[in-house]
Amino acid sequence: MSNNLLQGKNGVIFGALDEQSIAWKVAERCSEEGAKLVLTNAPVAMRFGTINALSEKLNAPVFQADATSNEDLENLFKSATEHFGGKIDFVLHSIGMSLNVRKKKEYTDLNYEWMKTTFDISAISFHRVMQTLWKQDAMKDWGSITALTYIAAQRVSLTTPKWPSRRRCWRALPAASATTSAPGTRCV
Ligand SMILES: NC(=O)c1ccc[n+]([C@@H]2O[C@H](COP(=O)([O-])OP(=O)(O)OC[C@H]3O[C@@H](n4cnc5c(N)ncnc54)[C@H](O)[C@@H]3O)[C@@H](O)[C@H]2O)c1
Repeated sequence: MSNNLLQGKNGVIFGALDEQSIAWKVAERCSEEGAKLVLTNAPVAMRFGTINALSEKLNAPVFQADATSNEDLENLFKSATEHFGGKIDFVLHSIGMSLNVRKKKEYTDLNYEWMKTTFDISAISFHRVMQTLWKQDAMKDWGSITALTYIAAQRVSLTTPKWPSRRRCWRALPAASATTSAPGTRCV
């Protein structure tokens, strides 16, 4: 059921890869509630995922952006504000990727170069996103920027051994960003 809770709101949603993605479901609900959306994902996700089907369904454009690239993020938010004809009300960062998990590497055999990439994609990109929004003054006052965390940020999980440090990495920083964001912008 829709109550038009997001009527007139502009949102950018990162991380819808396929119907199993959390971001996919969030995008559908936001659209049902009347939000105007821009979808974004890494270039490689265009080939492996089905984001274009969501784009058609929601009538929302997809702008490719690797969340580890400042240039891509700058272009993304420039394109998004042009598309909306104004600033952004909300951003969802629903990004996570671990090469060590993908390759089934145990804690005792982690590849630390891959771990750096994992941090960059899954944690630091959240701060890149906020910095880019800040520099472009692209958020509306009282807007929201939300990132998804994982229980392994709080507890050690044997199946995802390096997640705790990755998640703590970004959880430690939003407070700093929140204090310097646009007036009233909430960073969750
Ligand atoms: N699935 C769960 O049980 C669960 C639970 C709690 C939290 N989370 C968190 O929610 C978020 C989304 O998880 P999900 O389950 O929807 O997984 P998902 O794999 O569907 O979503 C992750 C997204 O990150 C994108 N991505 C990867 N590298 C990128 C890059 N360089 N630039 C831009 N995008 C990139 C992927 O293409 C994908 O769309 C993650 O942060 C995850 O840790 C998941």
